[in-house]
Amino acid sequence: MRSTRLSTGIVAGAAALGLTLSACGGSESDGSGGSGGSGGADEVEVFTWWAAGSEKVGLDALVDVFDEQHPDIEFVNGAVAGGAGSAAKDLLQQRLQTNDPPDTFQAHAGAELQDYIDAAQIEDVSSYFDEFGLSEAVPQDLVDLLTTDDGAIYSIPSNIHRSNVVWANPAVLEEAGLDPTATYASIDEWIPALEAVQATGKTPLSVGQAWTQVNLLETVLMSDLGAEGYNGLWDGTTDWSSSEVTDALTDFQTLIGFTNSDRDGLDWPDTTQQIIDGEAAFNVMGDWAEAAFEEQDAVAGEDYVYFPVPGTDDQFGFLADSFTLPVGAPNVGGAEAWLETVASPEGQAAFNSAKGSIPARSDVDLADFSEYQQSAAEDFTSTTIVPSLAHGAAAPVATLNDISDAVSKFTSGSSDLATFQQEMATAVG
Ligand code: GAL
Repeated sequence: MRSTRLSTGIVAGAAALGLTLSACGGSESDGSGGSGGSGGADEVEVFTWWAAGSEKVGLDALVDVFDEQHPDIEFVNGAVAGGAGSAAKDLLQQRLQTNDPPDTFQAHAGAELQDYIDAAQIEDVSSYFDEFGLSEAVPQDLVDLLTTDDGAIYSIPSNIHRSNVVWANPAVLEEAGLDPTATYASIDEWIPALEAVQATGKTPLSVGQAWTQVNLLETVLMSDLGAEGYNGLWDGTTDWSSSEVTDALTDFQTLIGFTNSDRDGLDWPDTTQQIIDGEAAFNVMGDWAEAAFEEQDAVAGEDYVYFPVPGTDDQFGFLADSFTLPVGAPNVGGAEAWLETVASPEGQAAFNSAKGSIPARSDVDLADFSEYQQSAAEDFTSTTIVPSLAHGAAAPVATLNDISDAVSKFTSGSSDLATFQQEMATAVG
């Protein structure tokens, strides 16, 4: 993707994530690594929300590597459908609170992981991190993000996704008299294009249920506030009640006005499908959408185009999925084996090439990855990393839940802009 190199770069971006993590609770795992851990090495229940479509294709690719590397351990699929963990996270909480954890679960690096650490629900896996060679293979900035103040690491990263991407259908754009190769410098500059599509009767901007609206919102905040202002929303240096935030929320309101009215009943694959089927012109979504286009043999540049959300070329809306070892996991040996596969170059290559993401390891050959993924890998090193709100990097789960409620109320017409802004300010505190 086209991007502007910022001198602040990745390190400043990472620091701006504000992850002053501190370990607490959680007994030490045995640290033996491999598949011969302290019990239960016959099977492993892996809890994710990659239950269907291209996400399941990605998980299946990882499972294939797992089966090769650990043929004696049965993979038990604990996936719960619902994009961004919209159903999985609540169920996971119930299971953790009733001491019925899966053997390993998907969690996002950053503030969301801190929730599980604070609740003493996951183990320190730093010895595996070293043993699996991740200390050398994962970029230092990501290692820093995952490391608590006392040097502990609580998850094994599987991938890096970008949240601030626009996906578009070139034919629909042409029908509206637009240049399909055009990009837009700001949300303001994007509006005339949305109006042009609206005049054709097609949906200018497809969006789905609450979390996809939050995904859209975070990118508008990035665009209007810039990386520093956006990061300030999470470290307290940007005032949620300021007029700059009012302006950004007003832009969000304008964009919602260009979206499909059935949004609350749709998940992200539906809204990507609207682009593929030519029902909508633009969609803002994380780059797991790339996997959905690929899965349907859509050709980049012909069947779809992509570019950073207007005004966010210089930012990488960062999120990383990672896998944990829950306290009290029944099959610790199985979980260790899974973590080993997740960490392996083979696992990372197979999983990420199918998932639309880039590997967390920097020693994976990307030659067979899509053009989009190669551009994302380049952008990851040349833009400012900012934490995704909708995907656990910026804010704890409880904050995100409050924000999602406020967004839903607002987009469904149950609150006005002033109330919305106030509820956002209260949610972040
Ligand atoms: C994110 C997750 C991605 C993808 C997406 C849509 O939270 O990190 O891997 O699954 O949700 O479900």
